[in-house]
Amino acid sequence: MSVIGCGYLGAVHAASMAKLGHEVVGIDVDKAKIDALAAGEAPFFEPGLPELLVESVASGRLTFSTDAAAARGSKVHFIAVGTPQKAGSYAADLRYVDAAVQGLVPHLQPGDLVVGKSTVPVGTAERLSRMVEPTGAMVAWNPEFLREGFAVKDTLTPDRLVYGLPPKAEESAVAKELLDEVYVEALRLDTPLVATDWATAELVKVAANAFLATKISFINAMAEISEVAGADVTELADAIGYDVRIGRRFLNAGAGFGGGCLPKDIRAFTARAEELGKGEALNFLKEVDAINLRRRDRVVELVVEALGGSAYNKKVAVLGLAFKPDSDDTRDSPALDVAVRLNGLGANVVASDPEAIANSRRLHPQLAYGSTNDALEGADAVVVVTEWAEYRTLDPASVGELVSGRIVIDGRNCLDAKQWREAGWQYIGLGRR
Ligand code: UGA
Repeated sequence: MSVIGCGYLGAVHAASMAKLGHEVVGIDVDKAKIDALAAGEAPFFEPGLPELLVESVASGRLTFSTDAAAARGSKVHFIAVGTPQKAGSYAADLRYVDAAVQGLVPHLQPGDLVVGKSTVPVGTAERLSRMVEPTGAMVAWNPEFLREGFAVKDTLTPDRLVYGLPPKAEESAVAKELLDEVYVEALRLDTPLVATDWATAELVKVAANAFLATKISFINAMAEISEVAGADVTELADAIGYDVRIGRRFLNAGAGFGGGCLPKDIRAFTARAEELGKGEALNFLKEVDAINLRRRDRVVELVVEALGGSAYNKKVAVLGLAFKPDSDDTRDSPALDVAVRLNGLGANVVASDPEAIANSRRLHPQLAYGSTNDALEGADAVVVVTEWAEYRTLDPASVGELVSGRIVIDGRNCLDAKQWREAGWQYIGLGRR
């Protein structure tokens, strides 16, 4: 099989498929990325990926190339390129998907299967199938639900498989058989499979991310109310979470969601609904987005308030830059956003992160970066914005020895408030007493 696009999704998919015994060629236009991957090095931080790459490359089943022609001879071709937000619009930018398929077309053979994994607006598979049709190849859509930080596990043992199959019965049967072969291991483990049409498969992916985003913004809205009502959103989340219909997961209030998926996916979904003349059906996602963005403002506001009304010339330790722990991804990261805004208010920000400093520096070279200790040394306030284990387990007494002011803003509600207060800190959570 070929995997076109070797980013967070494609690199993990290619290495995992090789681990499962398939012959895989990973293709990407970025030569530096391909060179690193071919040498068994992960070009980004993802737990378990380096070991998997080394093993798969050494087995001879995983190779990499910058040449689309390397896809020739593969039976199945996965499209795993990015679909970022289009500049100046909420819609998804499909130029990489289109370029990947255009580049692949000259190398397709009759009976090949092009499998879309990228998150796309509903209707894309149908459009691409018209590009692919003259070659005698088929198109299927097989969305990916992996989470960064757990990408290897999620790919090797997915919690469900979704196949969006072509409309013609004969093609649909052949495509399903090919996908069953690809996922034979997961199917052997009785992984639930939903075999459906293109449009449903495309929608499943954005619907799942829209639901997760809604869940997070719901609890963040409860945090906003808790703040004015004197309630505690963490206890509220625990209490409603005991209802299995609601569930406790994805109910952590804090600085909100970021990353390369949730924010742009909900926007692209609203843009697509509008194109389809059903914008009103997804108007609530605009609220979800707005609530989410307000939480970043709130973190900044709390820091300024705690510093007596101005952050100017105050040293602020920002702990966390990645959009979530166990990742070096800073795309649309609330943490990095908070650091930049505080810096813009004249604070002397020193930001730290176990993995995401290099990516942050590329985007925001104006910020000062350092180790956890560099950030904490002499700080007037400490802001925790990514819940890395290293920050969750900080000892408030010893941190207290390093800082100038014992003020901690817990932007992820991940610290033990009682413990920090007992160590003499002014502890401020989001939506917490
Ligand atoms: C998300 C989905 O969870 C995956 O299922 C999906 O496959 C992926 O997008 C994708 O479309 O590729 P990911 O972006 O890796 O995965 O991150 P999440 O774990 O969903 O976290 C997203 C953001 O929500 C993070 O910034 C996180 O800090 C925040 N979050 C999460 C909260 O603020 N509260 C929570 O309770 C949970």
